[in-house]
Amino acid sequence: FGKLFMSLWLTFLLAVLTTFVAVIVADFPVTKPYIVYFIMMPPFVMMFAVYLMETLHEAQLARAELMKMEKMQIVSQMAASISHEIRNPLTVVKGFIQLLQTGRLPRETEERYIRIALEELERAEAIIRDYLTFAKPAPKETEPIDVATQLQKVLQMITPMAHMHSIHVSSSLEHGVVIGNVQYFQQCFLNLLKNSIEAMPNGGTLHVAAENRGASVVITISDNGVGMTKEQVRRFGEPYFSTKEKGTGLGAMVAVKIIEQMGGTWTIESAVQKGTTLTITLPASRLRPPTAEQSAAG
Ligand SMILES: Nc1ncnc2c1ncn2[C@@H]1O[C@H](COP(=O)(O)OP(=O)(O)OP(=O)(O)O)[C@@H](O)[C@H]1O
Ligand SMILES: [Mg+2]
Repeated sequence: FGKLFMSLWLTFLLAVLTTFVAVIVADFPVTKPYIVYFIMMPPFVMMFAVYLMETLHEAQLARAELMKMEKMQIVSQMAASISHEIRNPLTVVKGFIQLLQTGRLPRETEERYIRIALEELERAEAIIRDYLTFAKPAPKETEPIDVATQLQKVLQMITPMAHMHSIHVSSSLEHGVVIGNVQYFQQCFLNLLKNSIEAMPNGGTLHVAAENRGASVVITISDNGVGMTKEQVRRFGEPYFSTKEKGTGLGAMVAVKIIEQMGGTWTIESAVQKGTTLTITLPASRLRPPTAEQSAAG
């Protein structure tokens, strides 16, 4: 506010001073329009210009601040959820090591404790691997992947989980080659299929299809589960967005990042209480995947 008043005042003084000099030196005739247009108006125009500049500058500062805050928030959320996920296994391992330290346990118990401790450490390691790989910019080595083979493998992994929830799994998989990292590819579809299964707590049908369209391979995952609202569809893939009690909200983000890394795109069609269909389009490659893999697809 001080700046505005100053600009008004200074411009006014300058105008008066110039007129004063003009009157003395050149006997300048001071008329009414002159007073209005050259003495009264400029200070207000100047004040308005200063006001505009200040407002814009402030808005810019506010935006930069907001962006910084958002970044900080993401980092702290990430740190919080990862430390939360890792703390449990660490607590377990610590407890068992303390028990082992007493040295008065039967041999079998000792072995069991060591095994549990190792399993928990592996879990912690897996959490770090799954969630922190994407903090690094450089992707792992890529190779030609036959989508049918790899999707088949992922389907095998999730079948026990599907059966537990009385979910019928069907698939129609055409062969097609995309370029990517096999582990990432599996991770991506594991996350997505897990979401579909979790969306059908009372059973349903999960259908996975792969279609070879020449220039691209189109993979669809359909479930007739709880579905998503428009808002949920919009937020799909956003870190820490989860509607589940124990969800990390990182599964979809990781999947989306992997799809994008492979140069692919994705769309969601969903209706609440009807189901969800996820369509993933990946650019096809003419390269051949390792033959052993291809024959395994059958
Ligand atoms: N097939 C689906 N049907 C209905 N909702 C879904 C589906 N897939 C994802 N969602 C919604 O998107 C949210 C985010 O999914 P995401 O996989 O990132 O996290 P999550 O499944 O909640 O947690 P986590 O993957 O760690 O178990 C889910 O909480 C759910 O609300
Ligand atoms: Mg999930």
